[in-house]
Amino acid sequence: MGLVEWAKSPWGEDIPIHISFFLIWVAAIAGLLFLVGHAIWVRYFAKAEVFEGVTPPDVAARIPQRVPRHSLAARLFHWIMAAAMLALLITAFLPKVGIQFPWVTYHWIAGLVLTASILFHIVHASFWLDFRSIWPDKADMEDASRRLKRALGQDAPPPRRFAKYPLENKMYHGVIVLAGLAAILTGVFMMFRVRTGILPRNPYLFGDMTWGLMYVLHGAAGIGLIALVMVHVYFAVRPEKLVITKSMIVGTLDREHYLEHHDPQRWAVDAASSSSERRMTA
Ligand code: HEM
Repeated sequence: MGLVEWAKSPWGEDIPIHISFFLIWVAAIAGLLFLVGHAIWVRYFAKAEVFEGVTPPDVAARIPQRVPRHSLAARLFHWIMAAAMLALLITAFLPKVGIQFPWVTYHWIAGLVLTASILFHIVHASFWLDFRSIWPDKADMEDASRRLKRALGQDAPPPRRFAKYPLENKMYHGVIVLAGLAAILTGVFMMFRVRTGILPRNPYLFGDMTWGLMYVLHGAAGIGLIALVMVHVYFAVRPEKLVITKSMIVGTLDREHYLEHHDPQRWAVDAASSSSERRMTA
């Protein structure tokens, strides 16, 4: 059972045509194993989080009761993208596991919604939000090393409080960017293979081998997204993370949560500018 399905071209050449769809189950099971493993780890083995130092009282006194976290535009983007992503996964994979329906039109329409939402996000995050907030920095690396050493029982100071996003969230974002962009770029070209009424149908745009590799990459990115979305939803509904999930609905975080987990020097919050986009980060 290979990872890729092959076919013979009219010229007798072996060409890849799809990712092997049994990998859907591999991704779903891997996602499930991660959830169960993580839940067991947190319940029985994880130690309480300890951070270096305390936030000085004069700094803490300036933090508002509700800390702005996501602007309305960022929240709308998130939920539109999430709806498109779920629609894409459902329309792509239900037919592959035996639930047949005319899925292709719904699929590319959801694909266009995802593409438009991601284009919006790139422009919004580049010019209105703090673009750097979601990419790992030097402090993240130093803190990751401190956390690793402490987990292994070695001597190291506790990590600092987080900036806006912990390293784990930044790494997740990086991986989903790669999988999402791979699915989008290949998906837009694949629209030339089907009748959409938007783009002229042109199956001869690329040769058989290029099309085949494109379908394989599209399917591989999509299958990766099954596990990535499972992990994301799992963290969103974990009891200790509900406060973060709620902030993606209402836009703000509790002051107590902010002071416990975030470093005002690394994620500056200004009570007076709660409504200002510029001060908020991605
Ligand atoms: C979560 C993201 C996505 C997932 C999980 C996904 C998954 C899939 C899968 C598994 C297929 C079947 C491929 C095959 O038969 O080898 C497919 C086909 C297709 N996808 Fe996506 N896709 C995603 C995003 C997109 C996007 C963003 C677009 C367009 C902008 C798109 C457009 C298409 C088209 C047009 C086809 C049909 C190709 C054909 O039947 O010839 N997809 N997708």
